Amino acid sequence: MTTDRSHASLLSLAEEAKIWRRTIHQNPELLFDLPKTAALVSEKLKQFGCDEIIGGLAKTGVVAVINGNLGPGRTIALRCDMDALPMSEQTNLPYASKVENMMHACGHDGHTAMLLAAAKQLAESRDFAGKVVVVFQPAEEGGAGARVMIEEGLLDRFGIEEVYGMHNCPGLDVGSFAIRSGPIMAGGDRFLVTIKGKGGHAAYPHLSHDPVLAAGQTIVALQAIASRFTNPFDPVVVSITYLEGGNGGALNVIPSATRVGGTIRTMNAQTRRMVEERFREVVTATTKSFGCEAEIDWRPGYPVTVNDPAMTVEAAKAASIVAGSEKVDTNWPATMGSEDFSYMLEKRPGAMIWIGNGNSADLHNQAYDFNDDAIVHGVSYWLALVDQRLNGSAGE
Ligand code: NI
Repeated sequence: MTTDRSHASLLSLAEEAKIWRRTIHQNPELLFDLPKTAALVSEKLKQFGCDEIIGGLAKTGVVAVINGNLGPGRTIALRCDMDALPMSEQTNLPYASKVENMMHACGHDGHTAMLLAAAKQLAESRDFAGKVVVVFQPAEEGGAGARVMIEEGLLDRFGIEEVYGMHNCPGLDVGSFAIRSGPIMAGGDRFLVTIKGKGGHAAYPHLSHDPVLAAGQTIVALQAIASRFTNPFDPVVVSITYLEGGNGGALNVIPSATRVGGTIRTMNAQTRRMVEERFREVVTATTKSFGCEAEIDWRPGYPVTVNDPAMTVEAAKAASIVAGSEKVDTNWPATMGSEDFSYMLEKRPGAMIWIGNGNSADLHNQAYDFNDDAIVHGVSYWLALVDQRLNGSAGE
């Protein structure tokens, strides 16, 4: 059973976390370059008396180990992201970003503050068996910081057996949680194709191999991947977002090359592989049929974020203890956004949960702000999850 976590003490912890959150919010940093944020996190973890604090993983990632007092047990990781986005804030808040063209528009400031608060409470109480590893990672926004931390040994070095993540969700009530078993966020890959033909005079097309026509046909043909090769119940998005061609302003010249780029989103690893294969076939065959040749630059993005079914049940239970089961949606629709926590979930069982951010602006919007009222719920979730996984006290 839980120890001395009275509502009042949690509220005062959340108040403290709110101050940290706003400090981080005012000083946003990007990708792997988070010296101030990492220093703040390390300093706090030291103050809390965590057992082992390691900085510099993936350049600015910070990891701390907190040993429980109740003997040996599992080792679980609680993970948050710390980086901001290269956009200018338009909130007019008193604690708005002090840095031009950098903004915490995805709430990673809030995620960091909530995990810090949980670490403080856990280091104080230590009323669990085994170990909690708190992971503060850089570069979620496009840098695959999670993957780099794994490559630098995060999971093995600390003996991590399970991984848990949490992200705020605009539009979901404060105090509510949402989760689903299996794929919860999409995998996203990008591509840039160079179509090489043979340029020439536009009046004599038979003497050229037209890469403009080949590009047009390729764009149309690629749409068949989603509509003809994929089970309609298995979502796939193919978006062509980039088209380049032509010869300066010369409208009577067939150029020698064009470029086509875009992104593909999928919801499971098998489909992701199938789509890449089809993509290569369609592009190669279509361009070839016009006498052109394609050079494919395939840029793999974040994998599909897949929640382990058993760990999803555990996470949902912890959320229900905190919020009441009526405020935990366990069949939340998956989204086409992607998240690099997926790399951790590829290696270890675990689950990602959404926490309500209330009626706020959307993520990655210039008017967005993390909702401080959510902090107490997020911290309570982390603590309940630790209790759930390391004490097995659920339902007692
Ligand atoms: Ni985010």
